Amino acid sequence: MPYFKVLITRRLPTQLHRLEEVANVEVWPERQAPPYEVLLEKVKEVDGLLCLLTDQIDQQLIEVGKTLKVISQMAVGFDNIDIPTATARGIPVGNTPGVLTDATADLTWALLMAAARRVVEADRFVRSHLWQTWEPDLLLGPDIAGATLGIVGFGRIGQAVARRAKGFNMRIIYTSRHRCNPELEQSLGVEFADFASLLQTSDFVTIHTPLSAETFHLFGEAEFALMKQSAILINTARGAIVDPDALYQALRTGEIAGAAIDVTEPEPIPTDSPLLSLDNLIITPHIGSASRPTREKMANMAIDNLIAGLRGERLPNCVNPEVYQ
Ligand code: DGY
Repeated sequence: MPYFKVLITRRLPTQLHRLEEVANVEVWPERQAPPYEVLLEKVKEVDGLLCLLTDQIDQQLIEVGKTLKVISQMAVGFDNIDIPTATARGIPVGNTPGVLTDATADLTWALLMAAARRVVEADRFVRSHLWQTWEPDLLLGPDIAGATLGIVGFGRIGQAVARRAKGFNMRIIYTSRHRCNPELEQSLGVEFADFASLLQTSDFVTIHTPLSAETFHLFGEAEFALMKQSAILINTARGAIVDPDALYQALRTGEIAGAAIDVTEPEPIPTDSPLLSLDNLIITPHIGSASRPTREKMANMAIDNLIAGLRGERLPNCVNPEVYQ
């Protein structure tokens, strides 16, 4: 007999049997996330919530969820969840780190290569029937080998990107709140730099920091002004780390050469966003972790966290371990 009641805010790419043994499971059946007001009603009746980064799990929602024992997010990022409120209520919050590191680093690499070698523009060129001959100066871009890659945020994903860059013979610099130990720096072949010098010297800048009050609009007018005019920005982290108006101006005026972003502010990008008019910008719809095996692993990890929380056990991956003190 299931003892608990849980809500999963979207269909998951995995089986739910394990969970169904311990809980009555309601899965939100729509393609779109449940509207906030609906979530607010449903959370009143559940012991566990398995949510996605598209769900706003704020103070009000956590407070009305009087029976909530666990919140399990199917993502590594959790900026959509009010962690202090969950902690104050003693509710552990789970996330899914590690399993999406390579998939996200791969997409970062795909975007970097695509932006440098103008793959998306080239495809559009061919489909527009503009390809007439081989031309010496057609769709030229920069070299990747020998270029400097600046990595902003040097956690798991930033480091996985560094490993890829090493194979491409790039010079790699990084900035982060905490400098890595010299052994790790040496094995990855990276040098530490402060944020401003990283912006000034990098040919490619890639963002791998979580979104927080500190990193909100970390890239604005002043930062784009510091970057090389030939620089390319990649963002597979969170949209709001980059001020979209400043990005538009920087790309439109040639202050930087190009960008490739998998995340936008807001998401989805508004259909009338001026960013959509730019040829020197590639945009993908937040698919960093979107390999089949990765999404399945994320869903299973989220279920593991959910089950542990329902049973009153420590979550295998908990973002607010203070709840156990
Ligand atoms: C995350 O996990 O935070 C990504 O943005 C989605 O996979």
